[in-house]
Amino acid sequence: MKQLFLSLTLAAATLSGGHAFAQAPDQADEIIRGHYQALLTDCAACHTKAGAKPLSGGAPLHTPFGDLIPPNITPDRETGIGKWTKEEFRSALKQGVGHDGKRLYPAMPYPAYTKMSDQDVDDLWSYIQTVEPVSNAVEANQLPFPFNIRLSMLGWNMLNFTPGEFKPDPAKSPEWNRGAYIVEGAGHCGTCHTPKNLTGADKDGVTLQGASLQGWYAPNITGNTHIGVGSWSDEEIVQYLKTGQNSHSIASGPMREAVQESTSMLSDADLKAIAVYIKSVDGGPSDKPKAVAADDPHMKAGGMIYHDTCSACHGLEGKGAKQLFPALAGSPLVQQPSAETLTHLVLYGSQGATTAAAPTTPSMPALGWRLNDQQVADVLTYIRNSWGNAAAAVAPADVKDKR
Ligand code: HEC
Ligand code: HEC
Ligand code: HEC
Repeated sequence: MKQLFLSLTLAAATLSGGHAFAQAPDQADEIIRGHYQALLTDCAACHTKAGAKPLSGGAPLHTPFGDLIPPNITPDRETGIGKWTKEEFRSALKQGVGHDGKRLYPAMPYPAYTKMSDQDVDDLWSYIQTVEPVSNAVEANQLPFPFNIRLSMLGWNMLNFTPGEFKPDPAKSPEWNRGAYIVEGAGHCGTCHTPKNLTGADKDGVTLQGASLQGWYAPNITGNTHIGVGSWSDEEIVQYLKTGQNSHSIASGPMREAVQESTSMLSDADLKAIAVYIKSVDGGPSDKPKAVAADDPHMKAGGMIYHDTCSACHGLEGKGAKQLFPALAGSPLVQQPSAETLTHLVLYGSQGATTAAAPTTPSMPALGWRLNDQQVADVLTYIRNSWGNAAAAVAPADVKDKR
């Protein structure tokens, strides 16, 4: 993203100094707005491979149907989208139909981007024109037969896709509507946080209620007060999105990337709008399940492991240490129906997000080499059912799956 910034600055400088462009000031404005759209939509999350030039093609995405490689979308004429028209670009984002009528797979989040306004998409288009063209041919479609047949997307779209811009709800505040526009559209939070059906589309009625992705679990981020963010204040949600941490949680894995590359650079007003909106989303019943009893043998074994291996950082009472070690007591993340993220953290460790506002972050050590599957399961069952927490026990087989 730093490189994107640089190319923007250069482009804006050329334009504003520019005799070459009669429309310079307008165009510069458009590019600046487009740069903000690039942050909001985070195209780079998929279309830029670590260490490679911006938007020159991404790392393979593993879908349940096979791999797709996000293609080169720099303005290169041969291997990027340099020959595309603005209308084709709009159609790719809002209809899932690209150059020459090619039907895109929904791993490209057009089901969310369809909600974007034409103006925002056009600004983004202007910005992408300023990105360095890179020659890098990518064959996106690595899917096995029969999923490799693009025409099958016609059927998928009929079943699952409702094209159309976001329609504000006049009964709600402008702030709520702005939040809904970002979360459901440009920000595509549901791509990770909304459960999917068997065809890989968002399930109805469970928006933002939590979903598995590539070895992690993107938690419930609705107004649910037990496993969602319903008991976080707006300010705490803003702080998490801006800095990657607050007194409840520290962003890791895919959310660390989303914070670093996108949310940390959004305006405070937009972050507040996101907070207002997600807290209003219905997150299912907030009742706590029955906690696993403290005298259960797995709880006892888990308690011992916790005492020896975790409490030095997270505290005997699971309270953590502010901005350093996250609290586990009362943490929605710890009490999700799925323990995938927790398992990932304990086996492989993790580094918290680094942002301008919080440049140094603590890290969680990998403990997979020290603890066997049963021990990891027990310590997770323990943290999920102590200090007022309540969630399903974790089985050793679930841990084995993640090794
Ligand atoms: C979650 C990952 C993801 C994100 C985020 C994403 N894309 Fe994509 N994109 C893909 C994948 C995967 C494909 C390949 C789809 C296919 O071939 O059917 C793709 C394809 C495309 C294409 C078609 C290119 C071609 O050569 O046919 C365009 C254009 C595009 N994306 C633009 C964007 C823009 C602009 C953004 C940000 C607003 C964006 N994408 C965000 C995953 C993503
Ligand atoms: C690429 C996938 C991805 C995207 C996109 C994404 N998230 Fe996340 N998010 C995650 C994962 C995974 C976690 C769990 C991270 C962790 O364990 O630290 C998470 C955690 C969170 C949390 C913390 C919840 C808690 O209980 O600790 C919040 C809040 C959140 N996301 C909000 C958002 C919002 C708002 C958006 C859209 C602007 C968004 N996320 C987009 C994957 C994603
Ligand atoms: C050396 C200090 C240290 C030890 C020991 C440690 N952790 Fe952590 N843990 C951290 C830090 C720092 C983070 C935040 C980093 C991140 O989330 O990327 C963290 C994050 C977590 C989280 C995610 C919480 C959230 O909301 O983001 C869980 C769950 C967790 N640790 C559980 C454990 C368990 C269980 C053990 C023992 C088996 C353990 N930790 C041992 C330092 C430690």
